[in-house]
Amino acid sequence: MRNFAIISLPGAVIFLFMIAFNCGDKADPFRSVDDPGFKVTYTDQIKVILDNNCVLCHDSEKQGAERNGAPLDVNLDTYENAVAVAERANIQIQAGTMPPTGGLPTELRALFQQWIDQGLEE
Ligand code: HEC
Repeated sequence: MRNFAIISLPGAVIFLFMIAFNCGDKADPFRSVDDPGFKVTYTDQIKVILDNNCVLCHDSEKQGAERNGAPLDVNLDTYENAVAVAERANIQIQAGTMPPTGGLPTELRALFQQWIDQGLEE
């Protein structure tokens, strides 16, 4: 009984704190894109999309044939590189021409557009 009180009191305080300050909102990838206040960031949503679909070819660490023909000035492996070519990348993403295997699913295209519209947050 004593142990229970010791463990649960701090836990309850943290829980109430999280509710009061709405913690964790930003990082929740399952919130709808249409939710008002939903914020897309590089760290939470965009990095994984680029890593899984683009970095195979658009990697600043890669050269020559490893790039599969991807232009040397278009890299998507870091936040800075992604921001530098975000508009060009978005043209390809919205047109469904990148990745060359048939483009991204609609939800991911929408996330990328929203990332740009909300100011390319890290
Ligand atoms: C299998 C390799 C490969 C993958 C994966 C790939 N690309 Fe490309 N990308 C290329 C090649 C090859 C070119 C150059 C030929 C072309 O433009 O069609 C290119 C060109 C580009 C360009 C330059 C177009 C321009 O002239 O402005 C952008 C931007 C781009 N890709 C973005 C992306 C994005 C974003 C992804 C992921 C969603 C992606 N690519 C995935 C191979 C790839």
